[in-house]
This record gives sequence, structure tokens and C-alpha cells, in this order.
Amino acid sequence: MTRSAVTQSGSSLPAVPAAGSAVDKRESRIRAMFGNIAPRYDLLNHLLSLNIDRWWRARTTRLVPPVLDGSPLLDVCTGTGDLALAYDRAAKGTLPIIGTDFCRPMLERAEKKSRTRQADQRICFLEADTQRLPFADDQFQLVTVAFGLRNVTDTDKGIAEMVRVTRPGGRVAILEFSKPRSFFFGGMYRFYFRTILPRVGQMVSKSKDQAYDYLPKSVMEFPDGEALLARLQAHGLTETKLYPMTFGIATLYVGTKPWNTDG
Ligand SMILES: C[S@@+](CC[C@H](N)C(=O)[O-])C[C@H]1O[C@@H](n2cnc3c(N)ncnc32)[C@H](O)[C@@H]1O
Repeated sequence: MTRSAVTQSGSSLPAVPAAGSAVDKRESRIRAMFGNIAPRYDLLNHLLSLNIDRWWRARTTRLVPPVLDGSPLLDVCTGTGDLALAYDRAAKGTLPIIGTDFCRPMLERAEKKSRTRQADQRICFLEADTQRLPFADDQFQLVTVAFGLRNVTDTDKGIAEMVRVTRPGGRVAILEFSKPRSFFFGGMYRFYFRTILPRVGQMVSKSKDQAYDYLPKSVMEFPDGEALLARLQAHGLTETKLYPMTFGIATLYVGTKPWNTDG
């Protein structure tokens, strides 16, 4: 299902997205939208992805495994906590994990799941904006985000904060939707994504904010592939790699924070 990793070298300045984004990503709108769909978020995630989203997260933990040295992990835009919980499983419950999100109803579901799975002693969920993380520099061995960065109002602020709180030698991992490049599969995917998904999503979620209209629009305009990798390099990450999954519907982007950022 996956293409092999593509290692990038040399960092050129990334293309800045066109000013005046067509998609409204103001914090208040994003927070309200996720608050509104929170009760059905997990159901819709698994339904609309045919459960492949679970595999994407599990694969992320295998491609970027935790270091079992007792040091903490951070999952930002954690939502209902699925990636944080996947990392808890990958670490066999031996590491402290923090999950942050600025939407309380999503975090409440994360907390509930964590209690049900008896992971609540190890995973702590906190309300925080990814653009202003309440942590000192260089704290975490690994900082992750799944399907969250695209929703952050200022992408670069989000990446900068993720890099800031990662310890030198630690890694940043970003799992995000991407646009399949294959002509045939890409056509089918666009039809599903633009036509079927928004209707099923709207029917099941009854979202007041047309959240499942927002989803394809936000994916289509968000940088992916080499463009997003270049953004990570511009924030100082090295050894950057990308791992397309399931014909490129999703891609995992990984980078390492260097020991010396002075030059
Ligand atoms: C599509 S959900 C992804 C949730 C989860 N990571 C997953 O894999 O299912 C996006 C999440 O990002 C959160 N989010 C968006 N912008 C944020 C920001 N600036 N700060 C914190 N959380 C944010 C939303 O509240 C939402 O819970």
C-alpha cells in the first residue's frame, strides 16, 4: 500500500500559499465546527475512510516508533485522542504522553476513551492552541499531529511550535491528507471526496457549519508532498522524509530537530 520513503536533501524556501485563503480557518470557526461534530467524529472518521484511518495511525507509530527511554511524547490537535492512544500501545504503556487540542468537546471524548482503555494514568489531555503551546523549549522526544495541521489557522506558527518543543535529536511527525497523483485513482478519489463524502458526512453529522464541505476544500488547498516537506525544512528540520499511504490519500511527513540550530 505504501511507496517507499523518499529522502529529501537541500532545503529551498517553501512556496507560501496564496494570500486570502478560500477556506475560512479562523480559530473560532474551527473550534466551533469540531465542537459541533465531536459526538459523531469517530464514527464518521471510520465510516468515511472505510476504517483505513486506524491503519494510517498504526503505520505512523511503526514508521516513527517511540524511543522507550521514559521521555514524553506530545500529540497536538489530538482531537478524540486516537494517535495518542496508538502511541501508548506502541510504547506498551511505558511513556508519558500529552495530547493537546483547543476544542473541549473533542478532548472530553479523548479522556473517556483513555479511561476505558485504562491509559489515563499515562496520557494527559490538555486544552491548548497549537500556535501557542504551553511548554518550554526542547521537551519532547516526538511531537505528532494527525489530520490537524491543515486546520490550524497559521500553518507556519503551528509547525514552529511543534519544532520548538521537540528536543534536539527528537522528531516531528505529521500525518495529513494529500492529493493522489494517479490520473485514474485521483479522478475516482476526487469524485468520492467532493461529491459523496460531503453528503454522507452532512447526513450523519448534521453539522451546522458544513464541516464535511470544509474537509475536501481544506485538503485541496493545503500544501502536500514536496511543498509541505519544504515547509518542514524551512523550520529547520533535517533528515526529512515523506511516506505516501493508500495511493497518496494520506501522507506521513517526518523530520528531525538538529542538535545545533545556530548555523
Ligand atoms: C480533523 S481533527 C483530527 C483529530 C485527531 N488528531 C485525529 O487523528 O482524528 C482536527 C483537530 O484539530 C483541532 N485543532 C484545529 N486547530 C487547532 C489549533 N489551532 N489548536 C489546537 N487544536 C486545533 C480541532 O479542534 C480538531 O480536534
